[in-house]
Amino acid sequence: MCDDECVKFLQWALPQLHMQWPGFRKVRAQVCKRIARRIKHLQLADITEYRGFVHKHAQEWDVLDSLCQVTISRFYRDKLMFAFLAREVLPSLAQQALAQGRDYLNVWSVGCGSGEEPYSMVLLWQLQLQVQFTGMHMRITATDANPELLQRVTEACYPYASIKNLPQEWRNAAFSIHADQYCLKPDYRHKLRLLQQDVREAMPEETFDLVLCRNLVFTYYDDDLQRTILQRLQALLRPGAALVIGIHEHLPAGTSGFTEWSGKMRIYRKSISASE
Ligand SMILES: C[S@@+](CC[C@H](N)C(=O)[O-])C[C@H]1O[C@@H](n2cnc3c(N)ncnc32)[C@H](O)[C@@H]1O
Repeated sequence: MCDDECVKFLQWALPQLHMQWPGFRKVRAQVCKRIARRIKHLQLADITEYRGFVHKHAQEWDVLDSLCQVTISRFYRDKLMFAFLAREVLPSLAQQALAQGRDYLNVWSVGCGSGEEPYSMVLLWQLQLQVQFTGMHMRITATDANPELLQRVTEACYPYASIKNLPQEWRNAAFSIHADQYCLKPDYRHKLRLLQQDVREAMPEETFDLVLCRNLVFTYYDDDLQRTILQRLQALLRPGAALVIGIHEHLPAGTSGFTEWSGKMRIYRKSISASE
């Protein structure tokens, strides 16, 4: 299957899945490869036949939906954003929690991949901020639709490329090497609550101080779906809590109820009161 054929197919199929083509432009190779594999598995001649197959078999849309779930991630992705979290956002959230008589921060990583994002938060907290906030701890919920990725979160072993953004002292302190893989030491590994959830259908039933919703909803989903999910996320954020989206993402036009914590870092603060 050539690239042009795959692009045309995606431009036809994605809107029907409430997804948007521009989000896939750069990462389509991963998705096209999976579709080619699916075509081979179904013993179909080409993508035109596959399109006919999708037409005829309604349940194939679910398969196609899962083929379109992009899984690229790494530790400390957009490290300036993590630096900003450490410097400004987390200390402020911790102060706010303490003022409310809480000794924990509640964090949610939406679409957590193989654990790179939520474990980055574990390391950031334990290796950098914990000394400043000794009586305080961080609870982290990590959700993903893909059970194979969640299995990898529990294994917590990564290639070097995946952890190379981390400060060297952190890599040395938190990982040990096993068969060319960098495996997180147990002290850092058992800190996550993992849930298999499709963010379009379910969310954890609690409130959060910080939600990381990066490189999923606001890249791949269409405007309506983005707005629906954002509204649900907003309801789970405490007043004054932070929402982080991907560095190349934008909130839907006209979004209200947030102020920019850092527009450049795509960090937003939920307004304290509805009128703010
Ligand atoms: C591109 S990765 C981003 C990972 C991480 N948030 C980051 O920014 O590095 C998208 C992740 O979202 C997951 N995902 C895709 N569709 C999902 C859905 N509907 N519900 C929950 N997770 C989903 C994928 O399995 C993948 O782990």
